[in-house]
Amino acid sequence: MEPIVTKARAKLNLTLDVLGKRSDGYHDLCMVMQSVALCDTVTIRREAERGIAVSSNLDFLPTGKNNLAASAALHLCEAAGMDPNGLRIDLEKSIPVCAGMGGGSSDAAAVLNALNQAWKLGYAPQELAALGERVGSDVPYCVLGGTALAEGRGEILTPLPSLPWCFVVICKPHFAVSTPELFARIDGMKLHCHPDTRGMLQALENGDVLGVARRMYNVFEDVLPRNQGGTVAEIKTELIRHGALGACMSGTGPTVFGLFDTLVGAWRAYHDLRQTYTETFLTVTI
Ligand code: C5P
Repeated sequence: MEPIVTKARAKLNLTLDVLGKRSDGYHDLCMVMQSVALCDTVTIRREAERGIAVSSNLDFLPTGKNNLAASAALHLCEAAGMDPNGLRIDLEKSIPVCAGMGGGSSDAAAVLNALNQAWKLGYAPQELAALGERVGSDVPYCVLGGTALAEGRGEILTPLPSLPWCFVVICKPHFAVSTPELFARIDGMKLHCHPDTRGMLQALENGDVLGVARRMYNVFEDVLPRNQGGTVAEIKTELIRHGALGACMSGTGPTVFGLFDTLVGAWRAYHDLRQTYTETFLTVTI
C-alpha cells in the first residue's frame, strides 16, 4: 500500500446547546458546527509489524488503541473485513489538543475517509459517520465537515448552507477543561440562556455573516469556573476590540474564536493575542 496523506480539519461550534441528560449517560445536544482550514496532516502506511501503531509530533498523545485515529481504523477494518496488522498512522498535529476543536475526532474521521477511498470499500459518507459514532460523538460530523446542524449525541446531522468565507482567529487559553466535568456542571445548574438556533439557521440561509456572528453562543461558557470564565471573557473582549463580528468558545473549550470580515482586523487580533497565548491561529472557514 502506498502511503496515504490526508488533512483533518478543525471544527468550531457556532452554537452549542445542551438539551438534557439521557438514560445512556450522554446528553442531547443541538449544535451548529463549522469546519476551518486549520488542520492536522494524517499519514497512513502499512509496515511489516503486528498490531496498529500511532506516532505524532506530540509525545503525550496515546500511541495505541486509545488514540481515536487507531480506534477508527480498527472499527473500519472490523466492519470491512480488512487486516489492521501493520497499519501505522502518523499525526502531524496543528490543531490544539483537548481544546474543543475536535482535533482527535477529525483525525479519526480522516482515517475513515482515507481508508474507505484507498481500499475502495464503497461506504457512503453516512455509513462512515455511523461507524465514527462508535469512536466518539464528534466523529460523525467530522466525517462530513462543512457547515452542519448536529443533534442527538452529535450524530444526527443536517448539512446547512455554507457560512460565507470569513477569517477566524482562534485562541486557546492555558488552562485545561474536563469534558465530563463540564457536562456534570451543566446537570447541576439551571441554564437561563440558550442559543437562538432557529435565528442562526435563518442567518446561514440568508448568507448573513453578521447575523451568524451575533448569534454565536455556547452554554458551556456559562458553567465555567469563575477564573476560567474570566479568561474566556477577556479573550472575547480582545477579539471584539479588534473588530471581530462575534466571538464564542468552541465545544467544551477552552478555545475561543472570533469571526472577522477583514484580514486587517483578524491579523491585529492574532498578533496581539499571540503575545499572551502561544496557541493562537489565524485561519479561514471552509
Ligand atoms: O463520545 P465522546 O467519547 O466524545 O464523549 C466524551 C464525554 O463527553 C462522554 O463521556 C460524556 O461525558 C460527554 N458527552 C455527553 N453527551 C454527548 C457527548 C459527550 O455527555 N452528547
